[in-house]
Amino acid sequence: MSKGSFYITTPIYYPSDNLHIGHAYTTVAADTVARYKRMTGYDTRFLTGSDEHGQKIQRTAKSKGMEPKEYVDKIVAGFKHLWKTLEVSYDDFIRTTEERHKKVVQDIFVRLYEQGDIYKSEYEGWYCTPCETFWTERQAEGKECPDCGRPVELVKEESYFFRMSKYADRLLKHIEDNPEFIQPVSRRNEMINFIRQGLEDLCVSRTTFDWGIPVPFDPKHVIYVWVDALTNYYSALAGGQPDDSLVKKYWPADVHLVGKDIVRFHTIIWPIILMAAGIELPKKVVGHGWLLLEGGKMSKSKGNVIDPLVLVDKYGVDAIRYYLLRELPFGADGYYSEDALIQRINSDLANDLGNLVSRSVAMVEKYFGGEVRPPAEQDAVDRDLIKTAGDAVREYEQLMEKYELSNALGAVWRLVSRANKYIDETAPWLLAKDESRAARLSTVLYNLMETIRVITVMVSPFMPLLPPRIWEQTGLTGAEQAITWESLKNWGGYPAGTRVKRGPALFPRIEAANAAEQEQPEVQTESKKESMANISIEEFARIDLRVAEILKAEKVEKADKLLKLEVALGSERRTLVAGIAKHYSPDELVGKKIIIVANLKPAKLRGILSEGMILAASEGENLGIITVDPEKNIRSGAKVK
Ligand code: ME8
Ligand code: MG
Repeated sequence: MSKGSFYITTPIYYPSDNLHIGHAYTTVAADTVARYKRMTGYDTRFLTGSDEHGQKIQRTAKSKGMEPKEYVDKIVAGFKHLWKTLEVSYDDFIRTTEERHKKVVQDIFVRLYEQGDIYKSEYEGWYCTPCETFWTERQAEGKECPDCGRPVELVKEESYFFRMSKYADRLLKHIEDNPEFIQPVSRRNEMINFIRQGLEDLCVSRTTFDWGIPVPFDPKHVIYVWVDALTNYYSALAGGQPDDSLVKKYWPADVHLVGKDIVRFHTIIWPIILMAAGIELPKKVVGHGWLLLEGGKMSKSKGNVIDPLVLVDKYGVDAIRYYLLRELPFGADGYYSEDALIQRINSDLANDLGNLVSRSVAMVEKYFGGEVRPPAEQDAVDRDLIKTAGDAVREYEQLMEKYELSNALGAVWRLVSRANKYIDETAPWLLAKDESRAARLSTVLYNLMETIRVITVMVSPFMPLLPPRIWEQTGLTGAEQAITWESLKNWGGYPAGTRVKRGPALFPRIEAANAAEQEQPEVQTESKKESMANISIEEFARIDLRVAEILKAEKVEKADKLLKLEVALGSERRTLVAGIAKHYSPDELVGKKIIIVANLKPAKLRGILSEGMILAASEGENLGIITVDPEKNIRSGAKVK
């Protein structure tokens, strides 16, 4: 049943050039909120689009020897391709060159003119073309744009003006009466101060170029590009429709998500246009922070941009979405670096989440032949896990409602860590050794599968490709009831009796060719010392040593030390990459029974995923692999202890 409607928008980006990771951040954030709202039962509409008019676009197209429309068509096709690649689930894509949009913009312009809120006068001022913004003499001090620092041009022309000043008090009152209207609070205070200094009437038409929407009653003027652009949020519902049903259902918008650079346009110009036109104001404008590069600001006009397509190709959609949404705290700026991205993938995704799933599934296979048995009595440690899961769901919900996406992921990862700790605390491998503790083992493994279910539902708006891959392993593919948001309200939605199936690593570790994993030398010595200290039998038992039979061996291209091995572990097949090419020829290895560490985190070497490590002894240049006594005919897969 629908809980009502929810309308969310992103800025409509300029198709002056391809988009970069900053734009991807806003759109992926909006997509995550939209997916969350759909999942929680809202009739959701998610709008994005392109802002195609203006002098800058006209000039860019000309410099490429193209007509503006021809140019923007090409760039906008690229936008859509990017959103598809990033799994962005928009419901509508509006282009300001579409008829449905133009008509609404013109209607509003005419209405404001007829009621006297738009009037004709003479304009003299400073214009920043890249920002499409006018500045007063005082603002453009030093003939530089106060926003971007680039040179401004003096323009003098007959123009139409919008009586913003008339609405300043009403707007201020609206902002003061609705503390939620501008988020976060820091932006709200900035805007209040700005309005208190007084608003000047806004120049809303131009005659010096013609790539824009004409003023209907004076067509040598085109409508100022920001008035044109802002109206998209409304025209996408009102324009080109047989009736006003979309407006009735979705307007006012629940949230315009924008970067902090354009909060002022969205919280001053846009609300005043709507007030003047007698249209309800959007409920909320959220201005997020800026994604920065170490070297400074990333911008299309500077040319120092990070292409999200390249990153997706290298690391996958889910990892990129996760990184962006985790890294930028709500409202604040954050730095992008590829090292930090790799770090996040390896620690949060491969290590924490990936291992939780693979360890849990592997244990259900190993101890119960793949069947998740019903839980028996819950102990204190179980109750703590269950409480942590319940708290995580509630916290996540509250944070998502406040658009605090990074913190919502933080809440999920607290549960991931709790679950990993739970494995260590309950030591299922010890329970498995004692027949009389089978019920206890059932409870522990059930709780793990249930926790993974809760985690997976919560991460699904962030990483849309991941859940089906996890359900495949945890046996919930097609189990519609068990993967809904509603089903998280109570513990125990994972159906006992379900069968699990191990699959490939969810997030293979990225090897640190250029990764940031510079291990601190001190830390390394510390851990070395630690590894030499006595360990308990339980600690030893955590290392899953197995007999593996080598089925195939071959050289790895361009890596003279490495061999790629295909081994059997009982009925399972695995690929290993081993640094033994200098010591063995591929032929002499086939048929040998060796010992491998079977539960080592998979790692990519030369692009090949190695799913384990073979044991060998070495002394100086000499190296020998450890083999199993050939006399005894031990089957592959057998445990080494
Ligand atoms: O301003 N970090 O379009 P635009 C975070 N057409 N977000 C970033 C970013 C960064 N480094 N760089 C860009 C326009 N963005 C107008 C909007 S809306 C009616 C008209 C995101 O192509 C952020 O959302 O310059 C910012 O507000 C937007 O892209 C600006 O996109
Ligand atoms: Mg901009």
